[in-house]
Amino acid sequence: MTEITLPTIADGEDKSSPLANCIRNNYRHVRKWAKRTATNCFRIYDRQINHYPLAIDFYAGRFCVQYFSPSKEEDEPPEELTSEIAKILGALFSANPDDIYWRTRAKRKETRQYEKLGESKEFFTVLEYGVKFSVNLLDYLDTGLFLDHRETRKIVASVSKGKRVLNLFAYTCSFSVHAAASGATFTKSVDMSNTYTEWGKHNFLLNSLPLKNNPIVRADCLKFLDEEILTGAKYDIIVIDPPTISRSKKMEGLFDVQVDYVFLISKALELLSPEGVIFFSTNSRRFVFDPDLFPSTSIIEISKKTLPIDFHDPKIHRCWKISQLSS
Ligand SMILES: C[S@@+](CC[C@H](N)C(=O)[O-])C[C@H]1O[C@@H](n2cnc3c(N)ncnc32)[C@H](O)[C@@H]1O
Repeated sequence: MTEITLPTIADGEDKSSPLANCIRNNYRHVRKWAKRTATNCFRIYDRQINHYPLAIDFYAGRFCVQYFSPSKEEDEPPEELTSEIAKILGALFSANPDDIYWRTRAKRKETRQYEKLGESKEFFTVLEYGVKFSVNLLDYLDTGLFLDHRETRKIVASVSKGKRVLNLFAYTCSFSVHAAASGATFTKSVDMSNTYTEWGKHNFLLNSLPLKNNPIVRADCLKFLDEEILTGAKYDIIVIDPPTISRSKKMEGLFDVQVDYVFLISKALELLSPEGVIFFSTNSRRFVFDPDLFPSTSIIEISKKTLPIDFHDPKIHRCWKISQLSS
């Protein structure tokens, strides 16, 4: 497995800051695991102290700090907070201020997550369970890799050998890249965004995985499903990890996971091979799954198993494993 280097935190430093203590403890806990698993992107602080409404993620020596604004606006984090964080990360990791990337998350429900924020094109590579991913901490609201789904990706990868995998709402193809790296014979990734399908291609190539067996389709998943059913294609594993709500010029109408999950899962069942499995997940905290809508299927919630060791909020996402009951 690939050797990774991760900074060490020496003993004997100032222990007067509760936030620094929390980050130090979290990091020490996750570091051993990270070295063992060839992973150099993980969370080192997860909103554990009330008056520090932050999530801090370590990405191969850089730090992505999300500030959860108490208002509905995307207010800039207070100056005292940014300098306190710079001081703490500097003392613990010798990070310099240029290595710290701030983002603000507002409470407002609007769907702004796919807007572009910048043009730096500052991409770099991180490792997750030995698999490479290109990330960007400046130009988009999300980094290219949703760390909360690390274990879900591992679970999918662990059953992918020799299988055909369909990845819907693929974003940068992290599920399908992991599946292919673990020996899936064929993967197909579908996403509506040109930016993310290109990013996904790059992720396959970074891992020397041929695009020929791993096509990436730019399409609306709802339309794609009907078209794919007509081709007679079958898949052993189908990953469905949609946004909560999505509005786009490329799509007619509004996508709402609470409404559209029924269509998505019903159609995906038509594409599933008899022994196949659908992994469905959502970050929506209000989502209600009604198993009665899917007769003759086995539905098991696996959310607990998919919570990474560095995440402290068990409601960060929910995940279900769905398969057909044999007749
Ligand atoms: C929450 S991200 C999905 C995360 C992804 N499954 C992963 O593992 O990293 C949502 C993605 O869905 C895409 N998307 C939103 N609505 C879509 C639609 N109707 N059809 C296809 N892609 C869509 C967006 O472009 C975005 O990449």
